[in-house]
Amino acid sequence: MDFALTQEHELIRESAYKFGQNEILPGLRERDREAISDRTMLDKMGAAGMLGIAIPAKYGGSDTDYISLGIACEELERADTSARVVMSVHSGLHCLTLLQWGTEEQKQRWLPDLAKGTRVGAFALTEPNVGSDAANIKTMAVRDGDSYVINGSKTWISLADYADQFLVITRLGPDPDPSHAAPKAPYAAFIVDRSTAGFSSRPLHGKLGVRAGNTGELFFENMRVSADRLLGQEGDGFKIAMSALDHGRFTVASGSVGIITACLDACVKYANDRTVGGEPIGKKQLVQQMIASMVQGREIGRMLYYRVGWMKNTGLRHTKECSLAKWTNCAAAFDAANKAVEIHGAYGFIDEFPVERYFRNSRGAMIYEGTHEIHTLMQAEYELGYRSDKPLAHTLPTYPFA
Ligand code: CAA
Repeated sequence: MDFALTQEHELIRESAYKFGQNEILPGLRERDREAISDRTMLDKMGAAGMLGIAIPAKYGGSDTDYISLGIACEELERADTSARVVMSVHSGLHCLTLLQWGTEEQKQRWLPDLAKGTRVGAFALTEPNVGSDAANIKTMAVRDGDSYVINGSKTWISLADYADQFLVITRLGPDPDPSHAAPKAPYAAFIVDRSTAGFSSRPLHGKLGVRAGNTGELFFENMRVSADRLLGQEGDGFKIAMSALDHGRFTVASGSVGIITACLDACVKYANDRTVGGEPIGKKQLVQQMIASMVQGREIGRMLYYRVGWMKNTGLRHTKECSLAKWTNCAAAFDAANKAVEIHGAYGFIDEFPVERYFRNSRGAMIYEGTHEIHTLMQAEYELGYRSDKPLAHTLPTYPFA
């Protein structure tokens, strides 16, 4: 067992940290306050090479491993959740799922532009009436000759107004051509361009957190998509959605560690500066207890997500371990942010200090990519033997990439 990070990991940590300091934090308080999501941030992330992390060089990526993606997410979320969300939907949910399920032709067609950041990808599963119950989606694709006609809508889609292409999960409608065999499961996954006729998007406003990030709704009205945009086979849609979540949850788990680190950054400074009774509040044992608990969350969180990254590198199924990391780290981040507000007192209740933003942002991660309750149930069901953990037929390419 080797716990050492490589020099490459350390370089990625440093460059993602600097990106956060130089590109994300300036002006962030105003963007967060006014709910302004800056589209140019995507271009900057692309230019800095962030969007090609964990993509093989043969598809135009940086050829770095999956642990690197987690480290980048950790450092980006240390600055702001909105930047980590870009990595979650573009790199995790979209690119890695394409890498896992795409044909060679599909990977050559889309990954090089995605890796450069000249195109941005997103993921569309959730619908107005379907969140946790992912198998009950209503958006419908009906085969019509060499294409599919898609009708329906999606909501809570990160980068809805900015992404160039979406991984859209649909139900499969009845095929009017009797010569086509019925799919064994009624779901499909498509790579859909924003420019497709019948596609539209609309932003959501009034979010509790991640206010500097774009979130919206998608609408598909008789949207015709050619059959070469089908990912996997007809019937693979649910498995593709679940494996996308294996990647997205990994980025949320690692990003959550970044929130804990940001809480520690702010609290260590504040606890040393602020005095009560002639001494820094850091000398007070109740404050020390809260700091120690944050350190515990950060260290356990790192071990959990490093393990998932290692499992991705080695091609092992990691649905269970990833759910555990996401569940544990999101709760630890929210707890750390709550404690950070506590340590800051009244200054934790105003955006003059960053901790109220950590508090609002960390709450969201306990809802998206599987609620706290879904992950609680998954962990119990694995332990009780009610949930299968058998190896998957489709895995990511192992690292080092061939
Ligand atoms: N990879 C590949 N295949 C998988 C898989 C995975 N990770 N997980 C399950 N499968 C396969 C199973 O092997 C099974 O296939 P077989 O029938 O061939 O064995 C099939 O899929 C069905 O699996 P399950 O029986 O486990 O499915 P389930 O119905 O029990 O799943 C659930 C229930 C785990 C709660 C699932 O519905 C779930 O995860 N729900 C939460 C959805 C979610 O996280 N939504 C978040 C939306 S995305 C978002 O928030 C992103 C954003 O924009 C910010």
